Amino acid sequence: MKKILVVGSLNMDISVQVDEMPCAGETVLSKGHAFLPGGKGANQAFACAALGAPVMMLGCVGRDDYGDALIKSLTGAGVDCSLIARRADTATGMALITVNEKGENAITVIQGANGVVDKQYIDDNMDALTACDIVVVQLEIPMDTVIYTIQKAKALNKTVIVDPAPAPDYFPDILYGLIDILKPNEHELAKLAGIAQGDIRGGLRALQKKGAGAIIVTLGADGALICTEDGMCETIAGIETEVVDTTAAGDTFTAALAVMLSEGGTMREAVRFANKAASMAVTRRGAQPSIPTRSELRAAFPEI
Ligand code: RIB
Repeated sequence: MKKILVVGSLNMDISVQVDEMPCAGETVLSKGHAFLPGGKGANQAFACAALGAPVMMLGCVGRDDYGDALIKSLTGAGVDCSLIARRADTATGMALITVNEKGENAITVIQGANGVVDKQYIDDNMDALTACDIVVVQLEIPMDTVIYTIQKAKALNKTVIVDPAPAPDYFPDILYGLIDILKPNEHELAKLAGIAQGDIRGGLRALQKKGAGAIIVTLGADGALICTEDGMCETIAGIETEVVDTTAAGDTFTAALAVMLSEGGTMREAVRFANKAASMAVTRRGAQPSIPTRSELRAAFPEI
């Protein structure tokens, strides 16, 4: 079975429910809150394991209770956490997630220990990079480290999947040719391409000119658009469902994509599987607690 390595962030999320998102200068009362395990990297590793793939995570937490809780959550799901660094000089990352009545969220990340995941740490863990088949990264650790990880992974001929979230201010063009699959949402695509949100075709053309390989644009309830290197594009319809909280839906999608590709599925099969997994994640609150297991997914979608 192919092995997946996720390199990225771990956060303790404070998930706060509100009727409507507060505007600048406004104070609103919450309807409830919870401390829940999250972080884009950790969510993706958790989802890979929940969906049945062998997965290891590289990242860093503090020597604190939140760090313990995050590692416990990942280990419980089956993620190999043996190389996650524990640092006494920094606190575990956190995220404040405000979720409105429609299930939309606004997220502020306090980077904490994610900010010390550096090139040296990647060098120290080259064995893990060598031993895996697919490397998955996102952008909540320092960009220098992301660049270095992608370069090292590609030099080792690994399949590189990049979820460019949060949307970066800076993403060097040299990376596009090293990434096998880039998975932006519409906002991230617009920011990467430097174009207005909504002009998806224009964004895809801009990134393909920079040397991008396959790009999968997630479209929320509308599903996802697959664009391959040869310029072929196909929309895979989303799955109608009742949305409670969209937190980690994108992470679940990325992970499911990696899992299905690791099992030898085609890109189309992988996106269909990812749509299904993400559609279940949005029906439940929180990040990791919302991620479906393979058997839950099979029960809901017997054809998979
Ligand atoms: O994608 C959702 C995640 O973004 C949350 O779990 C939060 O920690 C932030 O990283």
